[in-house]
Amino acid sequence: MNQLRRATCGELTSADEGSAALLKGWVNTTRDHGGLIFIDLRDRFGLTQVVVDPRSAPAAAEVAASLRSEDVIAAQGLVRRRPAGTENRKLATGEIEIAAESIDVLNRSKTPPFPIHDDSDVDEGLRLRYRYLDLRRPHLQRSIALRHRAVKAVRDYLDSRGFLEIETPMLIKQTPEGARDFLVPSRLHAGAFYALPQSPQLFKQLLMVGGFHRYFQIARCFRDEDTRADRQPEFTQIDLEMTFPTQEDVIEIMEGMLAHMFEAALGAKVATPFPRLSHAEALRRFGSDKPDLRFAMELHDVGPAFTGTEFKIFADALSRGNAILALAETGGASRSRRDMDALAALATTFGAKGLAWISLAPDGPKSSLPKSALTPQLVDSLKAQTKAQEGDAIYLLADERSLAQAIAGKLRLHIADERGMRDPKQFAFCWVLDFPLFERDEESQGLQPAHHPFTAPAPGSEALSGDPLQLRAQHYDVVLNGMELGSGSIRIHDPALQRKIFTLLGYSDDDVERKFGFLLEAFEYGAPPHGGIALGVDRIILLMAGGESIREVIAFPKNQRFQDLMINAPTPVEPAALKELHVRTDIPPPRT
Ligand code: AMO
Repeated sequence: MNQLRRATCGELTSADEGSAALLKGWVNTTRDHGGLIFIDLRDRFGLTQVVVDPRSAPAAAEVAASLRSEDVIAAQGLVRRRPAGTENRKLATGEIEIAAESIDVLNRSKTPPFPIHDDSDVDEGLRLRYRYLDLRRPHLQRSIALRHRAVKAVRDYLDSRGFLEIETPMLIKQTPEGARDFLVPSRLHAGAFYALPQSPQLFKQLLMVGGFHRYFQIARCFRDEDTRADRQPEFTQIDLEMTFPTQEDVIEIMEGMLAHMFEAALGAKVATPFPRLSHAEALRRFGSDKPDLRFAMELHDVGPAFTGTEFKIFADALSRGNAILALAETGGASRSRRDMDALAALATTFGAKGLAWISLAPDGPKSSLPKSALTPQLVDSLKAQTKAQEGDAIYLLADERSLAQAIAGKLRLHIADERGMRDPKQFAFCWVLDFPLFERDEESQGLQPAHHPFTAPAPGSEALSGDPLQLRAQHYDVVLNGMELGSGSIRIHDPALQRKIFTLLGYSDDDVERKFGFLLEAFEYGAPPHGGIALGVDRIILLMAGGESIREVIAFPKNQRFQDLMINAPTPVEPAALKELHVRTDIPPPRT
C-alpha cells in the first residue's frame, strides 16, 4: 500500500508517478469530457489536473459533477502520467494528473463577481471590493510572495551588516515630511490629537542619540497626500539610520542591500556601484531629478545655434535669457505632420508654449520653423550637437530653463514609452547627489527644505550665508528606471545649526520649541553625527514585478480616493464615539 502524500497543487511531477496523493485547494475549472470529469485544482503553488472516472469512482464523480469554480475541495488519488499528447508544457505539473478516488467538498463558493484568472479584464473598483478574491489571482499571488522574499532579503542583509530592527511608535506628533498628517483624537486629553508618522524620521535620529549605532525598520508611514500610481496614503519604507557615517557609507550599504535584494528575490544581477549624477546634471541632461537611464535621448542646450535667428519666438526667448532645449528622436522622421502636431499638443499639456520640430527626412529637412529660419548652418549645427542623423527628428522648446527642462524631460519619457525603450526587465539604478538645501515653495514663495529640515548642509554651505537657494545639502536619492526609490541625508546633530535652519525656514522660536524642543534638547546630550535613508518598499516591488501601480504589490491597498472598498473605510462614526473623543463636527450623522 502506497503511503498517502499531502501535496500542494504545484509540486507533483512524473517523478511521483504511482504515489498516492492528497491535494486541497480551490476548483479553478471543471470540464466534462465524454463522461470523465476534469478538475483543475488551484492553490498558491500552482494547478494540478484531477480526473474523475465515474466507472471506477462513482461517489467521487457524483461530487465532482456538483462542483463549481472556487469551491474548496480535498482530492485524493494516484499520480499518473497524462496520456501522450495531452501534456501541458506550460504547467510545472503538466505531465501528470491525479486519478481521483475520493473528492470531499470542504466549502462551497458563490459564483464569484469576476473570473479568477490573470487576463480577466475587470473594473478595479470591483476587484478592490472583493480583494480577497482578487488576491487569489496568480499575478497577485506572485507579487505578494515576491514582496515577502524581498523584505526577507533586506532583513537578512541589514542584520549581517550590524543593523538592529527596532519599532518606533505610531501615535506621535507631526513630522515635517511635506505632506498632510493623519490625525487621531485623544480620548484622555480633550482637544489634543496624535499624528500618525509620515516617517520614523525623528525617532530614528533619537535612536542614534540613544546609542544604537545602526537601526532599521520595515516601517509603515502615513501621508495624507494626493494618490498617484506610485503613491498610497499608507505605505512601507525600509528605513535606516547609522552613527558616524559618511555619504559614501550609506551609499555602499544601500548598493549592497539592493543588489542582494534583487538577486535573492528575483534572481536578477544588479551591477554596483551605481552611476552617480549631480542634481544639476540630472536636470540638465535628462530634465528630471529622477532620470530614467535605460536609454539615452539626452537634452541639449542649443540656444547658441539660434543666435540671430529669424524665428521670432526663439529670438525673443534668447533676449529674455530663456533656454532653447533640443531632444533628438532616432527614427523620428517617420512621424507624419499630424503626429508631430499631436506631440506638440501633448507638450502644451506639460506646460510648453509650443514645440518646434525638424524632421531630417531623406529628401531634405522639413520643419515647423519658418523656412527663413531653417538655414543649412542651423540644421548642421543642431545635427552636430544632438548627434541626430538622416531619418531622425529634433524637437525644440524655448522657456525659462527649469521649466523647459521639466517639459523636455516629460517629452523624453513619452517618446521612449511610445518606442518601447523602457523595458521593465532592465534595471537602471543611479544616485542623484548634491541637492540644493532649500527650494522655493511655489505657493508661499518662502523657503522649504529640498528634503527635510534635518538634512545637514554640504561642506562649504554650513555657514548658511549668501543666497539660500545656492546652498547645497548632504542629501542623496537613489533612483531606479525613472522612479525615486529612496531619499536620505546626513543629519544635523548640532542644536545651534538645527535652530538656524528652522529660523531660515520661517519657524518662530515658539514653534520650534513646541514642535521640535525634544529633539533640540536631545542634541544637547552628546548626539553623535548620524545619517540614513529610507526606501519605498512598495515602489521597489512594483519595479521588480514590472507592474503599473503600487496597488498591485500591496495586499489591501486604498483606491485613488483613499478608500478601502472592501471594508468600506473611512466611514462616519456614531455621535457617541465622537463625543467621547471630544470631537464635534458640523457634518450631520449618517442615516443608518
Ligand atoms: P521621503 O519622504 O523621500 O524620505 O520618503 C522615502 C521614500 O518613501 C517612498 N514614499 C512613498 N511610497 C508610496 N506612497 C507614498 N505616498 C510615498 N511617499 C514616499 C518613496 C520615497 O523615496 N524620512 C525620510 C528619509 C530619510 O531622510 O532617511 C523620508 O521619509 O520611495
